[in-house]
Amino acid sequence: MRSIWYMGEKMRVLVTGGAGYIGSHTCVELLAEGHDICIVDSFCNASPEVINRLEEITAVRPEVHRVDVRDRAKMMAVMARYKPEAVIHFAGLKAVGESSQIPLNYYDVNVQGTVVLLEAMQAVGCQHIVFSSSATVYGTPHYLPYDEAHPCAPSNVYGHTKHMAEQVLSDWQRANPESAVVLLRYFNPVGAHSSGRIGEDPEGPPNNLMPFVAQVAVGQRERLAVFGDDYDTPDGTGVRDYIHVTDLALAHLGALAHAKKGSGTDTFNIGTGAGYSVLEMIHAFSKASGREIAYTVAPRREGDLPSYYADPSKARAVLGWAAQRGIAEICDSTWAWQSQNPTGYKP
Ligand code: NAD
Ligand code: WQD
Repeated sequence: MRSIWYMGEKMRVLVTGGAGYIGSHTCVELLAEGHDICIVDSFCNASPEVINRLEEITAVRPEVHRVDVRDRAKMMAVMARYKPEAVIHFAGLKAVGESSQIPLNYYDVNVQGTVVLLEAMQAVGCQHIVFSSSATVYGTPHYLPYDEAHPCAPSNVYGHTKHMAEQVLSDWQRANPESAVVLLRYFNPVGAHSSGRIGEDPEGPPNNLMPFVAQVAVGQRERLAVFGDDYDTPDGTGVRDYIHVTDLALAHLGALAHAKKGSGTDTFNIGTGAGYSVLEMIHAFSKASGREIAYTVAPRREGDLPSYYADPSKARAVLGWAAQRGIAEICDSTWAWQSQNPTGYKP
């Protein structure tokens, strides 16, 4: 499917947050497709070692700027120097729990950061942008699977910031009719590059299920707390749509090609369409790693939904993209990463 997306046109792509989990995997695929990239990252949630690993995997050392996207002067300078044809905007804060404790930081980085980025793009006439949004923007499901027409009513601060950033981007697009905005609503990104050289490396105890499971398997943490086993789901535990980070990365190549083809704002769900429970993920990971995953059932986590998953048919129809990797590959690649790097990028 990849050859359909890459139309032989090499682009100059500025990648904000390119040293982060999803950004780094996307940079690998961009470089593999022959694009030229420039990473802008503050490294507030990334290790500089990521850049070495990118070079190891792709044999290309990308241009990197340690810049905060909110820094207008520096963003203008990077844009003026690099002159990208397109931007992929990953930079942002993403912890749902933290977002209610420090909401102003979340609005500042996720919303104001997007405003400054657009100003800098506008200054150099860059008109194509792909944005990392989230299924969180939908809020409580009125029906499942969520399609892109499902109403948006986020129920946490992080979700509000993502929804507002979507609005900023689509308003900017309307005011600049030649421009193209692609909003990608990711479901639950998991997994790692097949080499095991890059992966998810959260600071402190992971908030998300799969990095926690992986750290239990490798012996970094004693046991997982399963947040609730009394949901109205087949086994009582929460059900999510887990999307392999390489499939997610490839969706960005499709989105870039789509953005280059025309103008307007387009929104796509990026998920598999299938839901798996917490217990199913634990068992799959246990099988992949050959390790027992110790867990105890704990109370429900506040704000968690019982179940949600994507209708990804629009991405298939319009972008020619569909997830190719299932939970076995998700667990194998996560284990390759975690077992080779038990403490992540830290020595
Ligand atoms: P991540 O934290 O690994 O990556 C974000 C990157 O942005 C990091 O490298 C960080 O250093 C950088 N960054 C943060 N604030 C910055 C700033 N002010 N200026 C410049 N760089 C900054 O997170 P990720 O999981 O790779 O997520 C990437 C994007 O996808 C985020 O916008 C996130 O909200 C969105 N998203 C993530 C998930 C998920 O579960 N991982 C799901 C849906 C959407
Ligand atoms: C998955 C399932 C938990 C941890 C979050 C954000 C969402 C998006 C993706 C950014 C749930 C259960 C988890 C643990 C558990 N991020 N769980 N024990 O909550 O679906 O989505 O990440 O946009 O916005 O909300 O992902 O991985 O935290 O949880 O039992 O220690 O695992 O209850 O059912 P979630 P998750």
